[in-house]
Amino acid sequence: MRDESKPATLEQLTSRLRDRTAVIGIVGLGYVGLPLTLRYAEAGFRVLGIDIDGAKVDRLNRGESYIKHIDGAAIARAREHGFEATTDFTRAGEPDALVICVPTPLNAYREPDLSFVLDTADALLPFMRAGQVLSLESTTYPGTTDEELKPRLESRGFTVGRDVFLVFSPEREDPGNPDFHTRTIPKVCGGVTPACLEAGLALYGPAIDRVVPVSSTRAAELTKLLENIHRAVNIGLVNEMKVIADRMDIDIHEVIRAAATKPFGFTPYYPGPGLGGHCIPIDPFYLTWKAREFGLHTRFIELAGEINSDMPHWVIGKVTDALNLRGRSVMGSRVLVLGIAYKKDVEDMRESPSVELMEILRDKGALVDYADPHVPVFPRMREHRFDLKSVELDAPTIASYDVVLLATAHSAFDYDLIRQYAKLIVDTRGVYLTPLPNVVKA
Ligand SMILES: NC(=O)c1ccc[n+]([C@@H]2O[C@H](COP(=O)([O-])OP(=O)(O)OC[C@H]3O[C@@H](n4cnc5c(N)ncnc54)[C@H](O)[C@@H]3O)[C@@H](O)[C@H]2O)c1
Repeated sequence: MRDESKPATLEQLTSRLRDRTAVIGIVGLGYVGLPLTLRYAEAGFRVLGIDIDGAKVDRLNRGESYIKHIDGAAIARAREHGFEATTDFTRAGEPDALVICVPTPLNAYREPDLSFVLDTADALLPFMRAGQVLSLESTTYPGTTDEELKPRLESRGFTVGRDVFLVFSPEREDPGNPDFHTRTIPKVCGGVTPACLEAGLALYGPAIDRVVPVSSTRAAELTKLLENIHRAVNIGLVNEMKVIADRMDIDIHEVIRAAATKPFGFTPYYPGPGLGGHCIPIDPFYLTWKAREFGLHTRFIELAGEINSDMPHWVIGKVTDALNLRGRSVMGSRVLVLGIAYKKDVEDMRESPSVELMEILRDKGALVDYADPHVPVFPRMREHRFDLKSVELDAPTIASYDVVLLATAHSAFDYDLIRQYAKLIVDTRGVYLTPLPNVVKA
């Protein structure tokens, strides 16, 4: 019997999701949207992927992956299960669910740039229909779903919670992590109304092992920010500890390893040459911006940002000092940067501190090369330009550089070979545990 207290649209939607006849629309087929697409296909749903990038869409429709850690075979299998990608937003009425996974960067003033989310919503809106659930997954400040998306749906004449359902469910993808994947990472979900939340739980329940409901979209939005701010602040703390330990001639990595033996109350974070990736250097400032509306300052966020963004300069200071001790200047020295992806074993270069290191070195007159097995050619980036290819790491090549700057500790590097042949190594990742005459820790 039909539950009269529930809108008929919700009953139909949840029953289609339950029996997996619902079609899932994933909008934005990037690092977040593509794994989610594959998960829904694996769970037995037909998925329609929508993206503005025609080249990506063509590759996906040929059953090919364009992201290194995502297997092409999984895309081919999804294609067999009916997955199709398109650039045609007029098809937005076909899916029962529309899940938005588009970028949320900062603008030149380090303020939230919601243009991708809003452009996507505006492109979908004319083609949406009653009975759909719209979920925003892009990381953003609390209030975005309520203040930006809800009024847009209402302007189309929909009543949110009756005709259409609106939720925020942050993504927690961790590319390259072998221990957790889309199905096994619990997913937080908040709805604009109780009916919206019910639609959200029905949407994610069949694909994700554990869905964690929260009372509002704002709570879900702030949950994601808390997670990333927690990381940014703790990385800032450990970077500051590194500078202090270095001045006191103590090895911070030894200290972290020892502290991590405490079985409770301590979580190890590791210092590095700066923050990288699409999330940790950017997301906290979404809250900084929104907090201003409430007359509040986010002091921890800003302090961590200050410390973390100073790290590349601190590392360059170490390179300069180490060269100086060997009677050389940065100007004219040959420098090999090892690892230019922002973290170990991935090819993603977004916000990578290695690029900043390379730029500072180049601006100081060094002759800069790089080696990264995951990035064979230095990619075209909006603000950075290097016309370089990854160099082969053999003994004579390693020995030909004045300094090797270890920025990202990929597993594929032969650290013994590097140690054996490098004149000088500046190690920002604590790879070389014991003191060595040619290794400087930074
Ligand atoms: N990458 C991660 O590990 C990660 C983890 C958690 C959360 N997030 C968040 O998820 C969101 C998406 O990040 P991502 O890493 O997947 O980005 P991405 O750049 O890898 O992918 C975004 C995709 O959206 C497409 N796109 C851009 N504008 C569009 C539009 N108007 N309509 C349709 N498609 C459009 C792009 O072509 C691209 O394929 C961001 O808010 C990010 O902060 C990312």
